[in-house]
Amino acid sequence: MFNGLPEYPWKKLKPYEEIAKKYPAGIVDLSVGSPVDPTPEVIQQALVRATNAPGYPSTAGSLELREAIIEWFARRRGVPNLTIDQVMPSIGSKELISFLPLFLGLGKGDVVVQPRVAYTAYVVGASLVGAEIVSSDDPESWPENTKLIWLNSPGNPDGKVLDVDYLRRAVNRARELGAVLASDECYAELGWGRWEAERIPCLLDPAVCDGNQDNLLVLYSLSKQSNLAGYRAAFAAGDSKLIQPIVNLRMHSGLMMPAPVQQAVIAALKDEAHVALERKIYQARRDILLAAVRDYGFKVSDSEAGLYIWATLGQDCWITVKQMAEIGILVVPGEFYEAGGSDYVRFSLTASDDKISEGANRLSNAIKLNS
Ligand SMILES: Cc1ncc(COP(=O)(O)O)c(C=O)c1O
Repeated sequence: MFNGLPEYPWKKLKPYEEIAKKYPAGIVDLSVGSPVDPTPEVIQQALVRATNAPGYPSTAGSLELREAIIEWFARRRGVPNLTIDQVMPSIGSKELISFLPLFLGLGKGDVVVQPRVAYTAYVVGASLVGAEIVSSDDPESWPENTKLIWLNSPGNPDGKVLDVDYLRRAVNRARELGAVLASDECYAELGWGRWEAERIPCLLDPAVCDGNQDNLLVLYSLSKQSNLAGYRAAFAAGDSKLIQPIVNLRMHSGLMMPAPVQQAVIAALKDEAHVALERKIYQARRDILLAAVRDYGFKVSDSEAGLYIWATLGQDCWITVKQMAEIGILVVPGEFYEAGGSDYVRFSLTASDDKISEGANRLSNAIKLNS
């Protein structure tokens, strides 16, 4: 009766959580990427002001919301001149990722492409409609029957940023295949090093798509940069010939962003100060944890943007997960993100300053004990 998805993989981490919890000073949980800092006051207040909401909200998003999304894309993502039929809200990004293959009418015999190391929802969406999932970062090798391609930049779990050249290759290949190209970009305002000065490229940027947004979609979420995971606040933009049928299907299915949340999103998009502050907070956490992870002996790959450190000790990820659990640190095995991650683990920066410092101390002390 039920669609045959495997059990939620995070249950496999439970035994290691138990080991980490037994550490005398308690667990430092660096597994989930769930924000811990407060939702900014300016956003909370916008929500509070909008709590009188007796009528149904607009599935397409209020005009004010869509205008705020358009203005934000132009100001922050280098995407000018979107029109109101090119943007829509979603109830967090994950539901839209999981249901996009369904909305596009995909099924058996169709291929959905995802990155070689990938956030878990892309495969879920393909599985729900019986499509085949192919994990590949090489546009030229994407199969002929590909109908949907997922890009994720900056990536979860690896923090990799796709540059303009790569994005252009992806666009060209998607055009050859006649496939929808969807880019999941929710960490795009959280770049480090080179990406503090340079804007992380957006799929819809004219430098990438030459102003032709046919068959292109960008998904964005405010969960991370605005500490809004609890509000379920996200949106998508791109080809109106994709957006409008999706809005229609969502209208039929009752998938609406609540009206107070729409107001909160408008406030969040207009306020740059809280994003700048949150960036600073994560940057400090990253500096501390990254140094400790490297000193411990991990090789860190990518991790140039976003909220994760993607690292390997050159051994199977589960051995590393256990090694970390024994010093009271919980990390995620790379295996959760497809075969490409099986030697890696993911450290998340979404823990309090104290917990990050404690985690870094434990890593340093473990080196001292072993030397
Ligand atoms: C790459 C990526 N996409 C989408 C999401 C989903 O975000 P949300 O459903 O909170 O908007 C996440 C959350 O961790 C993510 O890492």
